[in-house]
Amino acid sequence: MELPPRPTLFDFHGVSMSKYFTDNWDNVQNFQARPDDVLIATYPKAGTTWVSYILDLLYFGQTCPERQASVPLQQRVPFLDISLPSLPTGTDLAEQLSTTPRLIKTHLPVQFVPKSFWEQSSRIVYVARNAKDNAVSFYHFSRMNRAAPEPGDWNTYLRNFMDGKVVFGSWYDHVNGWWQKKQTYSNIHYMFYEDLIEDCGREIDRLCSFLGLSPTLEEKNRVMTDVKFDNMRQDQMISFTTVKYMDQSISPFLRRGKVGDWKNHFTVAQNEEFDEDYKQKMKNSSLTLRTEL
Ligand code: A3P
Repeated sequence: MELPPRPTLFDFHGVSMSKYFTDNWDNVQNFQARPDDVLIATYPKAGTTWVSYILDLLYFGQTCPERQASVPLQQRVPFLDISLPSLPTGTDLAEQLSTTPRLIKTHLPVQFVPKSFWEQSSRIVYVARNAKDNAVSFYHFSRMNRAAPEPGDWNTYLRNFMDGKVVFGSWYDHVNGWWQKKQTYSNIHYMFYEDLIEDCGREIDRLCSFLGLSPTLEEKNRVMTDVKFDNMRQDQMISFTTVKYMDQSISPFLRRGKVGDWKNHFTVAQNEEFDEDYKQKMKNSSLTLRTEL
């Protein structure tokens, strides 16, 4: 399949977006959520795939083992917002899901989420990742993903990230917008990539308590093994190897899976400027993200 050229960014209701996330806008906005849907919401590269896989295993690991072996994760947990040439749209895939609950992923900033999710009181799991690692991961992903706008070099990309000139807009607005929503909408479980790295078992317990799940110790241990970085990396159904837009020889989808990789990318000057800018942008926020692990 001949791939179309990389898309460009444009301002869409105040957020930088590309056509691959606005072409199907009406269908996304009119998507009919159900009360038992579970929406996994993240800024891109915050750990969406990790949490999607954890939830998929918690719900269906025991009952549908054949799914794990033969259906790529991106079909088990469709990406609601996406519409790429020659591929089914995210809304089509989500509507075709026959599982209960339906697990659906989105990168939309909170103000763009289809209203039916709020009306139906669907449960939402939001994952945030510290800004510096998030930026590094998004940079490498944009290099290997032909469906992303051209990232330029690292310095250019970092500047654009700080200015919110990347797809799905400002990281700062995204994590804060969802954090504020959590204060008034009780069905959001807001979690952190760094906490998952620190203690995956504890985070699975928290997820289960939010979702009303009670796996046996054996089931939980199996999930914990399957979702280890190295195991996910080897699993062709998880690592997006079938997606033609991604050239994993440039950078693998499951790249490093660590906290603190930003230290291998930021110069001292970039770090100082970033910290100063971060302080300004986060000064009215009660949200704290960790980089020290
Ligand atoms: P890196 O690029 O830093 O390696 P998303 O799924 O939102 O696109 O996020 C992808 C990031 O999550 C990548 O980060 C990827 O390696 C990391 N990730 C995915 N599964 C992981 C796991 N089991 N453990 C640690 N990191 C994981």
